[in-house]
Amino acid sequence: MATCEKIPLTFFVNGKKISDNEPDPDYTLLRYLREKLRLCGTKLGCDEGGCGACTVMLSRYDRKTKTLKHLAVNACLTPICSVHGLAVTTVEGIGSTRTRLHPVQERISKAHGSQCGFCTPGIVMSMYALLRSTPKPNMKDLEATLQGNLCRCTGYRPIIEGFRTFTADYECGMGDKCCKLLNGNECGVEVENKLYEPNHFASYDPSQEPIFPPELKLSDIYDQQTLKFTNDRNVVWFRPTSLKQLLEFKKAHNDAKIVVGNTEVGIEIKSKNLDYKLFASPLQIDELTRIEVNEKGIKVGSAVTLTELETVLKQEIEIRVEHETRLFKAILEMLHWFGGQQVRNVASVGGNIMTASPISDLNPIFAAAGIELEVESFDFGRKTIKMRQDFFTGYRKNIIKDSEVLISISLPRTFKNQYFLAYKQAKRRDDDIAIVNAAFNVVFKEETNIIDKMELAFGGMAATTILASKTSNAVKGKTWDRSLIEIANKSLIEEVQLSSDAPGGMIRYRRSLTLSLFFKMFLAISQELEKTNQFSLIDEREKSGARTFHTLLPKSSQLFEKVSTNQPAIDPIYRPKVHSSAFKHATGEAVYCDDIPKFEGELYLALVLSEKAHAKIISIDATEALNQFGVHAFLSAKDLPKQQNQIGPLINDEELFISEIVTSQGQALGAIVADNKMIARRAARLVKVVYEDLFPVIVTIEDAIKHKSFFSDHSNVLTHGDVENAFKIADQTLNDEFRIGGQEHFYLETQAAIAVPKDGDELEIFASTQQPGAVQKRVAQLLNIPTNRITVRTKRIGGGFGGKETRSAVASMPVAFAAYTIGKPVRMMLDRDEDMMISGTRHPFLFKYKLAFMNDGKIIGLDIQIYNNAGFSLDFSALVMEKAVLSITNAYEISNVRIESKVLKTNLPTNTAFRGFGQPQASMVSEHIIRDVARFLKKDYLDIMTINMMKDGDLTHYKQLVENCTMRRCFDEVRKNSELERRSLEVKKFNEQNRWRKRGISLVNTMFSIGFSEKFLNQAGALVHIYTDGHVLISHGGVEMGQGLHIKMLQVASNVLKTPIEKIHLQETATDKVPNATSTAASVSTDMYGGAVMEACKILYDRLTPYRERKPEKNWDEWVNDAYFDRVSLSATGFFRTDDIGEDVGKIFNYFTNGSGVSEVEIDCLTGDHQVIRTDIVMDVGSSINPAIDIGQIEGGFMQGYGLFTMEELIYSPEGKLYSRGPGMYKIPGFADIPAEFNVSLLTGAPNPRAVYSSKAIGEPPLFIASSVYFAIKEAIGAARLEENLDPHFNLSSPATVAKIRMACQDDFTNKIKEDGEGCKSWNIMP
Ligand SMILES: Cc1cc2nc3c(=O)[nH]c(=O)nc-3n(C[C@H](O)[C@H](O)[C@H](O)COP(=O)(O)OP(=O)(O)OC[C@H]3O[C@@H](n4cnc5c(N)ncnc54)[C@H](O)[C@@H]3O)c2cc1C
Ligand code: FES
Ligand code: FES
Repeated sequence: MATCEKIPLTFFVNGKKISDNEPDPDYTLLRYLREKLRLCGTKLGCDEGGCGACTVMLSRYDRKTKTLKHLAVNACLTPICSVHGLAVTTVEGIGSTRTRLHPVQERISKAHGSQCGFCTPGIVMSMYALLRSTPKPNMKDLEATLQGNLCRCTGYRPIIEGFRTFTADYECGMGDKCCKLLNGNECGVEVENKLYEPNHFASYDPSQEPIFPPELKLSDIYDQQTLKFTNDRNVVWFRPTSLKQLLEFKKAHNDAKIVVGNTEVGIEIKSKNLDYKLFASPLQIDELTRIEVNEKGIKVGSAVTLTELETVLKQEIEIRVEHETRLFKAILEMLHWFGGQQVRNVASVGGNIMTASPISDLNPIFAAAGIELEVESFDFGRKTIKMRQDFFTGYRKNIIKDSEVLISISLPRTFKNQYFLAYKQAKRRDDDIAIVNAAFNVVFKEETNIIDKMELAFGGMAATTILASKTSNAVKGKTWDRSLIEIANKSLIEEVQLSSDAPGGMIRYRRSLTLSLFFKMFLAISQELEKTNQFSLIDEREKSGARTFHTLLPKSSQLFEKVSTNQPAIDPIYRPKVHSSAFKHATGEAVYCDDIPKFEGELYLALVLSEKAHAKIISIDATEALNQFGVHAFLSAKDLPKQQNQIGPLINDEELFISEIVTSQGQALGAIVADNKMIARRAARLVKVVYEDLFPVIVTIEDAIKHKSFFSDHSNVLTHGDVENAFKIADQTLNDEFRIGGQEHFYLETQAAIAVPKDGDELEIFASTQQPGAVQKRVAQLLNIPTNRITVRTKRIGGGFGGKETRSAVASMPVAFAAYTIGKPVRMMLDRDEDMMISGTRHPFLFKYKLAFMNDGKIIGLDIQIYNNAGFSLDFSALVMEKAVLSITNAYEISNVRIESKVLKTNLPTNTAFRGFGQPQASMVSEHIIRDVARFLKKDYLDIMTINMMKDGDLTHYKQLVENCTMRRCFDEVRKNSELERRSLEVKKFNEQNRWRKRGISLVNTMFSIGFSEKFLNQAGALVHIYTDGHVLISHGGVEMGQGLHIKMLQVASNVLKTPIEKIHLQETATDKVPNATSTAASVSTDMYGGAVMEACKILYDRLTPYRERKPEKNWDEWVNDAYFDRVSLSATGFFRTDDIGEDVGKIFNYFTNGSGVSEVEIDCLTGDHQVIRTDIVMDVGSSINPAIDIGQIEGGFMQGYGLFTMEELIYSPEGKLYSRGPGMYKIPGFADIPAEFNVSLLTGAPNPRAVYSSKAIGEPPLFIASSVYFAIKEAIGAARLEENLDPHFNLSSPATVAKIRMACQDDFTNKIKEDGEGCKSWNIMP
C-alpha cells in the first residue's frame, strides 16, 4: 500500500490526465472544472444537487465485477478529492460544433429540446451516461435518468421525444394522431405534423465512444493509495484503504465526517454554513462497499450507493418467490422517488441512516422492518444493533456514537404471511423530499387474517422518524376487517401529533396523511388477501384507492400549417428552424455571463444581505471581514452620495445599499469585494450588523389591507358602462373571492454581471439582463456619468421570464459601482438561495368580486376589488396591476365593469414582471366567474362561455374594438380535437366507479392583449452589416433568452435579403450597436425587432438591386462585392414603431393572441396527489414564422403555468423570512409532470394583419392555459365532495397543491383532525 504523503490527486477529464499536487479539499468538481480547467460547459444552476445543470459522467473500472461503471453525477456535490482514479466526462468531451456532435447533442438540438440552453449540457450528460451503461434503454430507464434534471423553458416534451429515438421500443410518439391530419382540415389548409425528421438523425454507435483511460483499467494503483490532502484552512481530506485506518482516524477525530455521496454533508456546508474541517472517504473499504446475499436476506455495506442497492434488489425480486421480496419491493419503489438519478448514483444507504433526517425516505422502512445494523469502533470493536423505537434520539441524531462507524445493514426476506408497504407524499413526485412518508410491516398469524404484528413507521411527523408503537399494540391480535381502521385512526390521532407551529407547516394535512396512508395500505393488503382468501373486504369502487401514481408513457402531437409549395426552398419563413444556438447549447459552447473568462485583475463581489424584514440598522461592522486575506473593500451606503444611492426602475424608491431602515429581508446592506468568490462569500458572512426590530412586519395581502399599506398614487378605479344599473336589472347576482400566490422565476442561470473599467472613464458591462438599455441608463445615473461612456453587452441569458428586467439591477449595479470605484473588473453571479431571496417574484393577488347576470347566462356586470402584493418598492407593480385590470374579463365581453385596484406595500422583496405580467392571475377571475354563473344557473359552463365570448365588433372594458377575433375558432377546435363531450362522459363514469380516485376535465380560454400599454415603448431598432465575403451580421435591441428571437430574426433577414440563412449571423445585444432599446418583454420582440430587421434588410436589398438586375447570372457574394467596389454602403439601420396604437387612437394594444386548452386530471383523494392525463391546446399564432419555436413557447409556457397553478409555493415565515430558497424547498415542474398526452395545434388559416409576416406574439399568452389543470382538479375535488354530500363548490386558492387538494376533498379521515390550535403562530404564511 502506498503512503498517503505527496500523492497527487490524479484523474482524467475528457481523456486528459490531470495530476494535482495540491488539490484543495474545499473545491467541488464543478468549481474545479469551471475555474481551473475552464470547462464551462458544465453549468452552475443551484449548487445543491437540485437542478442537474452541473451533471457530468464519472467512470470507473469495477475490479470486483470487471466492468466499467458510468454514472451521471452532480458536479456541484462531488468533492474534487473524491475523483482520484476516476475518469470524468463533461459535455465538451463528447462532441462539439467544430468536430462532430454526439448523437445525444444532435437529437436534443434538432428535436427543439433547448431554449435558453442553460439546462441543456446537464440533460445531455444525463442521457449520455445512460447510453454508456445501457446503449438500448427503454422508456422507464429514460424516465429514471431524467428525474434529476430541471428545465424552466421547454416544457420537457421535445427533450423526451428527441431522446425517445434512442430507446429500444422507439416508435412515433404521436400514436393515433400520426399523419392523420396531413391531408388537410376544415379550412382546406394543409397541416404539417413533423417539427423535425427523426430519420435524418445520425445513428448512435456505442462502439464509437471514447475509450476509458487504459491506465485506470490496467493498474489498480490508484485504488490502493491512502490519500490525505489539506489546504491552507486546514481542511483535511483523508481516504483510508482499510477499515482499521478509518477506525483509527475516527478515534483520533470523533468530529470527522465520513463522506460518501456528500449529498448531505455538501448541503450542510453550502446551505447551513457548517464549516467541517475533517473528511474521511470510505469508498476503498471493502466491508463498507460490499453487498452480500445470504440465507436471511441481503447484507448491504453502509457506503453502498442507492443505485447499487437498486440493482441487487431488482435481481433478488426477479429470482425469488414473490412473498420473500415484499420488503425489497417496498424499498425499490421508494428508491424510484428518492432524489434524482445523479443523487442515487452517489448517495449511500449509510449516509441516509446516519443523517437521521426526520424526512428520510429509507428510515421509516428500515424502522418498520426492524433491520439489524453492524457498527464498529476502534476501542469497542463490532456490535449489532436493531433499528427500533430507541434508535433515533433527536433531530438528526441516532444512537450510533461519533467514534463509531456504521459498517452494514441487513435487509431480511419476508414471509408468506407478511406484507410490507411504504408510501411517500411530496409536493412533486420526482426528486422531492417527503412531506410525510410511512412504512407498514404487517404479519398475520399463519393461515389466518388475525394480525400477529404490525409495525407502523412515519417520517415528517416529528423531529425523528417515529414508530407508532401504541398503534401497533392497539391493532395486535385484531382481525383484518374494517373495524381495524377505526381502531388505528383513534390510536394514530392520539399517538402521532404535531404542534400548530411545527416546522414544515401543513399540520392538518400531515396528520390526515397518517390516517389516509394507513387506509391506503388497508385497501392494498385487503386486495392481496382477497386473492388468496376469496373473501371481499372492500367495495369494488374503493379498490383504486390503493394505487399510487406512476409516470405514464408520454404521447404527443404538434400540428401546424404546411408551407406553401410555391415558397422557395431557400426561404426559411414559416419553417420549423432550430434555435440559432441549439447546437452550442448542447455542446456547452454557448457562453453565458459567468462563462466569460476572467479579466486581468478581476475581483469578486459578494453582497451582505439583510436578515430582517423590517428593522433599523444600528451598526454595520466590516472590520473582521476586511482583515481577511484577499479582501479588498467593503462598500456601503456611506460610499456614495445619498442621491446616487437612491435607485429604482420607474421611481427612485429603493437604495443600492440600505442606509438606515431595512424594509425586506435580502436587501443589500453592503458588498465585500475580494480576490475570489470563496473569500468574498466567507468575508461577507463576517460583517456584523446590529438591527433594531421595527413593527409591523407586513407579509401578507391581508396584513397590508389591515394596515392600509398601499402605494396610494397607484390605487385606481376603472369603470366601463353602468355597473350600478347592471346590478339593478340583473336576474341574478353573486359574490365570491379568489386568491393566487406568487411564483419564483427560477430561470436556470441566476442573476449575473461583470463590470470592466476601460480607458479611465468608460465602463463595459456584461450582464444577464432582458434590458441592456435600462442597465446602461441606470448605471449612468448611479455613477453620475453620461450613458455614452457605458456599454452593456448581453450575448444570451439562461432564462429571464421577466425576472431579468428591472431586477437584473441587483447584480449589475453593485458590480458597476464596485468596478468604477475600485478601478478593477468586478464579477458577481448570485447563488440560487440569494437570487430567490433578493430578486422578487410574480405578484400574489387577491380578488373580491360581485357579479350580475341574466338567467340565460349573459354576464352583464362585474364589480371587483383587486389587490397585489408589491413588496417593499414599486418596481413594475403598478404596471402589473394595470395589465391585470385590463385582463380581468379575458375572453369574455362584460358591458358594465367597475374595477378598484390597490398596489400593496409589504415587507417582502419587491415583486416584479413575470411572464404574463398580471394577466394569468387576473384571467383566473374570468374563468371562475364563468363557472360561478354556470353553477348558479345549473347550466353547462361551456354554454356560459359561448354566450359571453368576445367576438368581432365587441368592445373590451377599456373600450378597444375587437377585430379579427379568433377566440371562437380556438374554442370550437379544441372542443373537437380533445373530444371534450365524449371524454366528459367518461370522466363522469370513472367518478361513479371510483371512490378514492376522481377525475376532472376542463376547458379554458385566453385572450392576451399584445403590446406595451405605454405607447413610447413600442419601438425597436436594428443594425445590419453585409461584409465583402457576402456574410451578414445582424444586431437588434432584443435579448435572446431562449424564446428563439434570434432565429426568427435570421429567418426574417434571409427572407428579405433572399440569401441563405447560413450566411447570416447574430452575435449579441449591445447598447453601442442599437441604442435606447425597450426591454425584451411583453411578447412583442418578434413583432418589433422583426419590423426593424426587415426595414434594414430592405434598404440593403434595394441597394443591391441594381447589381442583381444588371448581372442576374452572378451570385449574392458577387453582387455584394460589386456594390462594395462601387462604394455603396453595406450597412443600414432599421427602425420600427407599432403604428396605430395608443389610448389616443382607442387602441391600447396592437392585437390579441387567442388560445384554448382542455386538460384532464386524476386526483388521489386520499393523498391529494394528481396526474395530468391529457392536455389539448389550440393556439392562434397567426401565420407562425417558426412553428417549432412557437410550439416550444406554448409547451414551455404551459408547464410554467402548470407550476404556478398547482405546485409552486413561496413559503414565508410570519417574520418575512423566505424558507423556499432553492430547488430543495421550491418545486418547479419536472419531466414527470408533463401531461401524459400533450397535443398542441396552431390555428391554421388565421393570418394576423397587424404583425410581421402575419404572425402573432406567443411568449406569454399560453401560460394561462395551464389553469385548465387547476379547474380540472377543482372539478375532480368537487366529485369527491359529492361523495360526502358536501357542496361541490368551495374556495380553492391557487396553487392547488397536494395539501389543498387533499384537505378540500374532506372525508371521515380529514374530519377527525381538528383545526390548528387558535392563537398559535403558524410556521409559515401565504404572502
Ligand atoms: C438533491 C437531493 C435530493 C435528495 N433526495 C432525498 C430523498 O428523496 N429522500 C431522502 O431520504 N433523502 C434525500 N436526500 C438526502 C441524501 O441524499 C440522503 O440522505 C443520502 O442517503 C445521504 O447519503 P450520502 O452518502 O450522500 O451522505 P453523506 O453526505 O456522504 O453523509 C451523510 C452523513 O452520514 C454520515 N455517514 C456516512 N456514512 C457513514 C458511516 N458509514 N458511518 C458513520 N457515519 C456515516 C456522514 O458523516 C454524514 O454526517 C437528497 C439530497 C439531495 C442533495
Ligand atoms: S448546480 Fe448542481 S444540481 Fe444544480
Ligand atoms: S432551456 Fe432548459 S432551462 Fe432554459
